[in-house]
Amino acid sequence: MNTFILASNNAGKYREFKAILEPLGFSLVPQAVAGVDFEVNETGETFEENAWLKASTIAAYTHFPAIADDSGLCVTALGGAPGVHSARFGGGKDWTDEQKYRYLLEKLEGAEDRSAKFVSCICLVTPDGRTVTARGECPGRIAEEPAGTGGFGYDPVFIPEGHDEPFGVLGTDVKNKISHRARALAAFRAELERSGLC
Ligand code: IMP
Repeated sequence: MNTFILASNNAGKYREFKAILEPLGFSLVPQAVAGVDFEVNETGETFEENAWLKASTIAAYTHFPAIADDSGLCVTALGGAPGVHSARFGGGKDWTDEQKYRYLLEKLEGAEDRSAKFVSCICLVTPDGRTVTARGECPGRIAEEPAGTGGFGYDPVFIPEGHDEPFGVLGTDVKNKISHRARALAAFRAELERSGLC
């Protein structure tokens, strides 16, 4: 079982999954290429629930093992928001990434505590319902101003712990070593080996 359908239409996630999973011997097919022409509704209240919802729906539809990531940014001063609602923050799915991170900066104007973390929960579901899950977190803080064009989403405003610049400036190589998704994928690989599915 070395080919997974990626249960996402997010090009940024696809690039990061591919960069990390391919050297480990896994190939990844975006759900659109596998004939999925819909988005799974993320009705869960946790990253884990939403990752399972996406992977299980796409595995049932395609009859292939499907892997999903549900991820988001949790900001301490906002009580953990936007969290599972990160993709719909502010004006929702119609807003660009830039509108969303500028809205976040507005909300944090004057805030002393700018600490935050990115969370990624990864879930693999096989067509017969077997499941492997893993979680990764990347602590950091929200910048005062956006910088850089690398990555996607909130990358121009998220400064990972141990660095002085946001992911948008640090670039893919650094991000793919320390990000929430990289950590979740490392944990996922270990879980997959333990599960005996691969
Ligand atoms: P979902 O997992 O499809 O619900 O979307 C997660 C949302 O969280 C993305 O659309 C981004 O706004 C944000 N997000 C998740 N991971 C990252 C990341 O690595 N960089 C920047 N933003 C991210």
